[in-house]
Order: sequence, then C-alpha cells, then structure tokens
Amino acid sequence: MLVKGASVLKAAKKGKYAVGAFNINDLEMLKAVTVACVEEKAPVIIQTTEKAIKYAGIDYLVGMTRVAATEDIPMALHFDHGKDLNLMKQCIKKGYTSVMFDGSKLPFKKNIAQTKKVVAMAKGKASVEAELGVIFGKEDSVSASKGLYTDPKMAKEFVKKTKIDSLAVAIGTKHGLSKKEIALGKKKGHLKLRFDILKEIHEDVNVPLVLHGGSDVPHSDIKKCIKLGICKVNIDTDLRVAFTDFVKKFSKEHPDVYDPREFLGPTVHAMKNVVKIKVREFGATQKA
Ligand code: G3H
Ligand code: 13P
Ligand code: ZN
Repeated sequence: MLVKGASVLKAAKKGKYAVGAFNINDLEMLKAVTVACVEEKAPVIIQTTEKAIKYAGIDYLVGMTRVAATEDIPMALHFDHGKDLNLMKQCIKKGYTSVMFDGSKLPFKKNIAQTKKVVAMAKGKASVEAELGVIFGKEDSVSASKGLYTDPKMAKEFVKKTKIDSLAVAIGTKHGLSKKEIALGKKKGHLKLRFDILKEIHEDVNVPLVLHGGSDVPHSDIKKCIKLGICKVNIDTDLRVAFTDFVKKFSKEHPDVYDPREFLGPTVHAMKNVVKIKVREFGATQKA
C-alpha cells in the first residue's frame, strides 16, 4: 500500500533499521525494487529525481508506482533532491507521499526559509525531507565538488525551525560512481565517514536521519550509521551499474538479438538481487 514517507521512517527509527530508498527511472527498475521488497517483506521508498521525471513523465511514474503499491508492503513515493518548487507542488498533487527539498547549497537562513515553505505546502499530504551540508560527488543534476559536512548545532536549529520529518546529513558519502575508483586508489577523495559528526547530530536531533550516496558503502559502515540514527539509505548507482553491466555483457555476447525483452527481462533479475542484498544489510527484511 502507498503510505507517507514519515510512517515508514518512524517505524524504522523505533525498530532500529533503515528503509531502502531506491531511485527508479523506468519499469524495469521499479519492478526489480518491488519484487525484491515483496520477497523480503520489507517496507520501501521508491524515489524519482527531477531528471527521472523529465525522462519518464510524472504520470507514468505515479501510475506505475500506484500499481506496484497494490502489493502488500508499505511503499512511499518520494521526490528526491527537489529544487523546483513548482514541480514539487505537482508531485504532491499527483500523489507523491514524500518530498525532499534540497536547499543544501543555499545559505543557512535561505535554506530554512525555503524548507519552511515546502513544509507548509506539503502539510497533510506528503512528508518532507531536507538537507543540511553538501554530499560529495557528481551525478548529473546533483553535484558538489567540495563536500561540506553537516554542522550538528546548525542541524538542531534547522530541524526545530523547519519542522521537517527527516534530515539528510552530509558525513562523507558521495553520489555516483567515483567511490569505487577512490577505493581502488584511482581517484582522490573522502571515503572516510565522520561517525563523530553523525553521533553528535543523533544526540541533538530527534527526527529520522537520511544517508545519501549509499551505493557501495561497506556493510560495516552502514551498520554503524543505523546505530547512530540513519533510518533511510538512498541507492541509485548500484542499480544503474547492475542494469548497465548486464545490457553491455548481453549485447556483446548476443549481437544478433533485437527483441528488447530478451535483455530487459533479465536486468530486472540482476537489479532485484542487488536490492535484496541492500535490504538485508539495512535490517529491513520482515519489517513490512
Ligand atoms: O542523488 C541523486 C541521483 O543519484 C542523481 O540522479 O541523474 O536522476 O539526477 P539523476
Ligand atoms: P548513490 O549514487 O550512492 O547511489 O546515491 C544515491 C542518492 O543519494 C540518491 O539521492
Ligand atoms: Zn542523494
């Protein structure tokens, strides 16, 4: 069933696990996430960025998700990294049950003022996530060359003044593919997570905390994050990689196949396996 984002996050905070929030752009990704979470009996957040909406169309995304949400697991539909308030308004009107306002690059006071506007706009219809600090990395519409860690004192003031339902924190994770290259020593970067900052935020702030850039973060780090208040982990890149790797391999091995169903079908299976592993790592299995 389709539920508010805050309802799955409240349960996760109470139960000390994290809900997987998976970015989708098309039917294959949505099916993979849905089937995996039904099999795991796990609550889930389906999320789409502004670029996903530009690509697929808001009505297709809402329509497909409404069908997926007929499954017997709690499912929220979330607008990820929203900056365009008109589009956000449309999302809420069309049935999104959760929105993120990404004012992370705005000055503190402006971020508070804009976030308050979003909270007022979403009141009674959708839950609101907002971000303080900037997540490292670059991925299309979401980019930051220099990360800026969340300041715990500012986080406390931000949550108090805006009355958001959940807070996205910057503690050293990155969006996109570059983490693998950093781990392999091919690129410079900051892979070390600042658990000290997360601990302070957790002590000062009462709302569920959100970890962006969750792909490729080791299970041991995810576990520590959940202990320190992370209730939602965002995953996009890991699904893109599973999808694209499969298509590349398939077209190399079968250059003569021209029926897209022959390679799109198995991509669902490849992504489903990734989602299942993540959901288990987040402790969300059997929590639906
Ligand atoms: O964090 C957000 C996404 O991973 C970037 O996605 O390419 O759909 O904007 P996008
Ligand atoms: P990844 O690029 O690590 O999958 O992060 C996704 C994300 O944070 C979406 O908001
Ligand atoms: Zn993100």
